[in-house]
Amino acid sequence: MSIIFNEGTKTFHLFNDEISYIMMVLPNGHMGQLYFGKRVHHRGDYSYLYETVPRPMTSYVFEGDRSLSLEHVKQEYGVYGTTDYRRPAVEILQQNGSRICDFRYRGHEVRRGKPKLPGLPATYTENEDEAETLVLTLEDPLTGAVLELLYTIFAKGGILARSVRITNKGAEVLHLTTAMSLCMDLPDCDYEWLQFSGAWARERHLKVRKLEQGIQAVDSRRGNSSHEHNPFIVLRRPGTNEFQGEVIGFSLIYSGNFLAQAEVDTHDTTRVLMGIHPMGFDWKLEPGESFQTPEAVMVYSEEGLNGMSQTFHRLYQRRLARGYWRDRPRPVLNNNWEATYFDFTEDRLVEIAGKAKECGVELFVLDDGWFGARSSDHAGLGDWVANPERLSRGITGLAERIEGLGMKFGLWFEPEMVNKDSDLYRAHPDWILSTPGRSISHGRNQYVLDFSRKEVVDCIYGMMAKILSEAKVSYIKWDMNRSITECYSQALPPDRQGEVFHRYILGVYDLYERLNTNFPHVLFESCASGGGRFDPGILYYAPQGWASDDSDAVERLKIQYGTTFCYPVSSIGSHVSVAPNHQVFRNTPLHTRANVAYFGTFGYELDLNKLTEEEQEEVKEQIAFMKEYREVLQFGTFFRLVSPFEGNITCWMVVSEDKKTAIAGWYRTLSHVNMPFTRVRLQGLDPDLCYEEQRSKKSYFGDELMNIGLITSDGMSGQVEENTGEYGDFDSRLYVLKALVS
Ligand code: GLA
Repeated sequence: MSIIFNEGTKTFHLFNDEISYIMMVLPNGHMGQLYFGKRVHHRGDYSYLYETVPRPMTSYVFEGDRSLSLEHVKQEYGVYGTTDYRRPAVEILQQNGSRICDFRYRGHEVRRGKPKLPGLPATYTENEDEAETLVLTLEDPLTGAVLELLYTIFAKGGILARSVRITNKGAEVLHLTTAMSLCMDLPDCDYEWLQFSGAWARERHLKVRKLEQGIQAVDSRRGNSSHEHNPFIVLRRPGTNEFQGEVIGFSLIYSGNFLAQAEVDTHDTTRVLMGIHPMGFDWKLEPGESFQTPEAVMVYSEEGLNGMSQTFHRLYQRRLARGYWRDRPRPVLNNNWEATYFDFTEDRLVEIAGKAKECGVELFVLDDGWFGARSSDHAGLGDWVANPERLSRGITGLAERIEGLGMKFGLWFEPEMVNKDSDLYRAHPDWILSTPGRSISHGRNQYVLDFSRKEVVDCIYGMMAKILSEAKVSYIKWDMNRSITECYSQALPPDRQGEVFHRYILGVYDLYERLNTNFPHVLFESCASGGGRFDPGILYYAPQGWASDDSDAVERLKIQYGTTFCYPVSSIGSHVSVAPNHQVFRNTPLHTRANVAYFGTFGYELDLNKLTEEEQEEVKEQIAFMKEYREVLQFGTFFRLVSPFEGNITCWMVVSEDKKTAIAGWYRTLSHVNMPFTRVRLQGLDPDLCYEEQRSKKSYFGDELMNIGLITSDGMSGQVEENTGEYGDFDSRLYVLKALVS
């Protein structure tokens, strides 16, 4: 990896074995973008990539000169209103009412490694040889606003991490109204746009469309990254699929309001912008103050979507997630939510945990309902003290009983919320976000605490830390069950109200950071009514997240398949729940429910006592299987093979690092009669190794499995009357392949 600056041509070339990123200082001092893609030879002069021609109806920068219009030039951090008419990367409202800026290159610095972003989650290095960071400094001479554009190139992988720091070095107050993390001008628009969108219980469904002139965007203005959209988009060249072709993935390491958009202009260039949503954003910068944007990560791959995803998985698994649990296989858990909802006693919980222990479960999680006056979703949020009527010796007593069974104990919190029927709200009614004089909307009967205020975060931390210090709690499920409305903080002056959304999320990160630091062995799982805040920002603090409140195995195929485009299997919270399922009332076979949940953190969302003895035996086998293979399932190289968004069959697989073990999951939604023969071509195996498939005990070379394919129609009847009962709707199989090594 190298970052080279050519003084004569004012050109920067950042490269490693896979990618090149090239920029130059334009004649007016702005930064121009020249190339991002597959690695090319280094040369001192790439100025041939700087293209500009006089065109009708265009404005030009220099008087009497028609050579430079920013309208035609690809830039690093575009500004509106100085001949560039595209949406800007930065906008600053000045004291005289103007929003025009003119950022000129002033200097640069190359640093080994990667600097931390204060208060924000970001990728990191473990030693300084892993990456280099270029800091470009630009200045707007009139206002004294200074931009530092940060670019980190890692030694390995087609990854470029970017963020921006804006400092007011002038004498007047400035208002930052747009500050994107990334601006990427691409030379053409021959791309398809992929987004991962949906709704509650239908998160991260893949949607594809061709880029067209105009703006295409996904965003959130809900205060969380949302169920509706994810801060992740992909541009791929037409003809690209999972296995080959060029793609660029764009991911924002942030959990609040975001915007990700591509603007195709009249000349077919594409500007990608990604960052905090500018709508309502207004950050006051007093002289001397700075603002740091969240980090955005771009991944380039010429090995199709799987190639891109695998790069994101490695990066987010090893250099975004942190701490004790980062590299550790995750405990098999049993959560009581769908087993009891609010209706439980201590003895009932211990009964559920007892059976779970007998089946091999390692962690019992007590969900909502254990605190304050919480017996429904109308009361109690904010009072993080155990309800003595339910838990006579508090969390300490229950945790002891669970530990006494030989299991770990985990607990649910929803730290950011409050019910009006709570001691916390009665004591501090001004602690919720609400706009003076306006009615306050609720969501699930609850209100949002003003996490932009340190005293609020301190108070919640105090309650949580007390429980974690007193009781043996090994895991926390951190929930967030509503979006923000009437966003306004009682503690901030009028000209800082545009900061509240961002300050709120900084408060969330602060609380996470304090808990991570002081309770380093606690495993955190994030949740927001399922997958409403499943984003890289949270992965920095919680290495796994409950992917969706929809626990039906068939529904989960799309949710989990869509999630893997950016996020590693080790981050995907997935559990076996009862049949009929509580969300869609579908009956799926127990083996299919497990076969889907194995490709995630794995656990049970039910009372195992209620299963038949035969089913309990099956559960024991499932848990034993998960324990044997979770290292490869959660940390192996993951490939999507057949998409649930395209048909009746879904298939995906993982391969261990040494390529000696591979597991393919094959799922068929509806059963049909008299079907064609089918095969799936596997990926990532060693072509020369011979693998034994554990069900059939038949063996094949890796090259056979990858080129000819694994036969998936074996044993399938052509006729209904021959059905053994094994092949109905919602069937699935796992193919475990082990290399035969002498
Ligand atoms: C949310 C979560 C669920 C459960 C409930 C408890 O909906 O997504 O898993 O924890 O809250 O109220």
